[in-house]
Amino acid sequence: MNILAIETSCDETACAVVQDGRRVLSSVIFSQIADHRLYGGVVPEIASRAHCEQIVPIASRAIEQAGLTLPELDAVAVTYAPGLIGALLVGVSFAKGLCIALDKPLIPVHHIRGHIAACYLAHPSLEPPFLCLVVSGGHSHILEVRGYTEFVVVGKTRDDAAGEAFDKAARVLGLPYPGGVEMDKLAANAATGKYCLPNPKVEGCPFDLSFSGLKTAVVNLAHNAAQKGQKLDKPALAADFSARVADMLSSRLFAAAAQLGYKSVACAGGVSANSQLRARLERDAGAAGVSLYLPPLDLCVDNAAMIGAQAYYEYGAGSVGDLALNAVASLGVDGVG
Ligand code: KG4
Ligand code: ZN
Repeated sequence: MNILAIETSCDETACAVVQDGRRVLSSVIFSQIADHRLYGGVVPEIASRAHCEQIVPIASRAIEQAGLTLPELDAVAVTYAPGLIGALLVGVSFAKGLCIALDKPLIPVHHIRGHIAACYLAHPSLEPPFLCLVVSGGHSHILEVRGYTEFVVVGKTRDDAAGEAFDKAARVLGLPYPGGVEMDKLAANAATGKYCLPNPKVEGCPFDLSFSGLKTAVVNLAHNAAQKGQKLDKPALAADFSARVADMLSSRLFAAAAQLGYKSVACAGGVSANSQLRARLERDAGAAGVSLYLPPLDLCVDNAAMIGAQAYYEYGAGSVGDLALNAVASLGVDGVG
């Protein structure tokens, strides 16, 4: 089954063709970073307009690179939630139009389910059940993936997402948008241990997370240094910040795996590209005797191949959209909230 997948939830216009959920025939991404950098973050209206301009050429390129023609597509999948509403609507409207024109089924896909499915593309042997840490710009969740379309939230952030914390800390340190990858590069040049950062815990909820205190600690260090005319050791702070985030995420993931009896764990989402987090997860997985599944870097960040992978399983579970499909800005991975 050849599925054309469309992803426009944030600042990447992405289209891909995926065969039977596991084989990527093409994957094309247009990144809007240059459009948003001037403003230090994603400007929703600019994102929507850029998606409008790019969606037709990017979809055309994905179909062409897959070596297919329009009638050879079996279905069209689209990210319908969660994300920036105007940005999502571009993809949803385009997908609906294409489905009418081609008389093909429409498959709505939840963005976070897509991130998890990136692991299937990278690891052909991976099948549910497994435990998954999803860490992106808007989400930080530990989820039981009980089936391809069955998810149970085990832990989540109470405030900022991990990626949001990276981006905000980077901004305070004067790094360009998007900050997470810049923090990663800066941290690579420094040893850890210079700055003592908080280790927030949520009382009574051992698998929940909180990043706002960590972010505030970086803000306070930067302001104190500025007020005293002192120079902040930015690479050392980036290294300590990354190490703390990696520690918070990995310790909870493996504690949850031990408690729930999972021997397979995965990590997905933009922050799973972070080098300190990947190293820490590998170390902890080895110590716990657990198999770890990480996507390669290009499948960590937003792309449409992961949407095409998940779409195959959504379709198999009978999830088909109609022309009443709407974009939803905020929706839990289990379809609630
Ligand atoms: O999954 P994603 O591409 O988009 C969302 O669904 O949000 O994740 C984007 C987030 C951003 O916050 C970005 O700064 C962060 O992932 N990110 C990183 C790295 N690469 C991307 N954070 C830390 N280290 C990285 N190498
Ligand atoms: Zn994402």
